[in-house]
Amino acid sequence: MINQTIMNQIGCDKYTEHRQELIAAFKEVRQQTLNLTSTLSAEDMQIQSMPDASPTKWHMAHTSWFFEAFILAKFQSGFSWHDPMYHKLYNSYYNALGEPFSRAKRGMITRPSVDEIRDYRENINARMTTLLTECRDAQFKEIAPLLVIGLNHEQQHQELILTDIKHALFQNPTYPAVFPHDGARETQPDQRWLAVEGGEVSIGYAGDGFCFDNELPRHRVLLDDFEISNRLITNAEWLEFMQDGGYEKPLLWLSDGWAWKNENQAKAPFYWVHEDDEWQAFSLAGLRSIKPNEPVTHINYYEADAYARWTGCRLPTEQEWEHAATLLSAKDADEVLCLSQGLSQGLRWEWTSSAYLPYPGFCPAIGNVGEYNGKFMINQMILRGASGATQCGHSRFSYRNFFGPSARWQFSGVRLVRLD
Ligand SMILES: [Fe+2]
Repeated sequence: MINQTIMNQIGCDKYTEHRQELIAAFKEVRQQTLNLTSTLSAEDMQIQSMPDASPTKWHMAHTSWFFEAFILAKFQSGFSWHDPMYHKLYNSYYNALGEPFSRAKRGMITRPSVDEIRDYRENINARMTTLLTECRDAQFKEIAPLLVIGLNHEQQHQELILTDIKHALFQNPTYPAVFPHDGARETQPDQRWLAVEGGEVSIGYAGDGFCFDNELPRHRVLLDDFEISNRLITNAEWLEFMQDGGYEKPLLWLSDGWAWKNENQAKAPFYWVHEDDEWQAFSLAGLRSIKPNEPVTHINYYEADAYARWTGCRLPTEQEWEHAATLLSAKDADEVLCLSQGLSQGLRWEWTSSAYLPYPGFCPAIGNVGEYNGKFMINQMILRGASGATQCGHSRFSYRNFFGPSARWQFSGVRLVRLD
């Protein structure tokens, strides 16, 4: 766990002198994927419950393919594919590497089996460990940046394994409890508004360690003063919105949101089930009563936006969120913890009102890995923070998560900013 955290804090000029820690981080991250999936059956791992969610088995293979395609294929002497067919099946969206298999049909890949995918993982682990251990320093210097991207990539998929399997398990009428806990059951403190001074502020990653290309370049923006809530919106507050007819008032909704709501007959957050005269929510630990003081979860951008309008407040922009988190974390006060716990402890990904766009002067990562982020900068909204399903040490204040405005299956919540 220690190595997983520090891998993002080492500057790339120091990768060579930290070779052993990076090899240890590789082993830890790879093992963590297996740990997360240890309570799943082969049937659980096969299913794809919607086009946006991938089978666990596919995530396990794809994260291995990433190391094979971006590192072993380039740097291993005498390289050959573990299985040439895997190169097509487990390429997600890297068109420069060949035509990927249909995303919506990943659940149809019944062969290779889960056991064969486990063998694939072991094969990649062994070849990677040999390469990382035996290569010369000059080569390690070239490999290490791709290794760190690959490890952060696998951590992103670890969160997706949880969000995707939650969606799949929810389709079961038995609401199975497959994990010991949901990792997301925290009470919220009393509401307070935290004043944040605006001005000309810098946004984007500023440290020496790892960040994704979409967090750069650091640049200046002009912000007015604003006030941000010390906590996330709770289930109790969301229930008030529902009881006030929030889902039935067209003036609260964006046009696309209203169409989405009608088409999907949305009346409550995703995974909420009205049973036994009360609202319950499906979690990775099964169906449970709604706890009033916990942050509301699994709402999409349209719902977050409508809720904010109902309160007379608004969602933060991503620049306001990052500036507030950075500024308040530098102060030594209890109130600061309320805001930064969304990041350091992981509560919910927080919707912002910002579209996912390139920062001025954005340069995609060099090489084929340049397809990682940049090409998705269209039709998506930014979420900031982290969730209970985010791996420890993976996120940071400049981290930009992104999903389409109708996406509800991520662990997403709402934090408000006051208008004046
Ligand atoms: Fe991926």
